[in-house]
Amino acid sequence: MKKSYKLLFVCLGNICRSPAAEGVMRRVVADEGLSDRVEIDSAGTYGGHRGQLPDPRMRSAASARGLNLTHRSRQITEGDFLEFDRIVVMDDMNYENVFCLSPTRETDLKIFRMRDYFTRFPDWSYVPDPYYEGHEGFELVLDMLEDACHTLLQEIKPLL
Ligand code: 4NP
Repeated sequence: MKKSYKLLFVCLGNICRSPAAEGVMRRVVADEGLSDRVEIDSAGTYGGHRGQLPDPRMRSAASARGLNLTHRSRQITEGDFLEFDRIVVMDDMNYENVFCLSPTRETDLKIFRMRDYFTRFPDWSYVPDPYYEGHEGFELVLDMLEDACHTLLQEIKPLL
């Protein structure tokens, strides 16, 4: 059996944006019957929330969309660059931090920005950090992730 395609979503704390991206992508992949072809995980560039469930505000906003977020926060490791086929970051700071950790030229090429998959957010060049925002910030992030994850799946489908 062919090896599954491995996707890693990365943000700063791994308690808001990237675990939400993981949950949204799991749903999008499941809806197309591809759950056994794609493996999905998330991580943060900062390890201070290690072991924690996603932020309760994000869990609540995701739950209202039928998504149960159970990921435990972890920090990205050098091993992730070898393990995963594609690493998708939420903003430019994540990109710089992840790029600095990337061990080889080959692994540099695995790093992508979530904004590359937006179809409905022409005014945004990143997924904004909702941590210091109100409820609308979390809804905006989920709207962006739902948009981008559909595009991302179409892009990786030929690679599965
Ligand atoms: P995330 O949000 O990167 O989307 O998980 C944040 C979570 C925690 C912090 C910042 C952003 N923090 O500063 O602790």
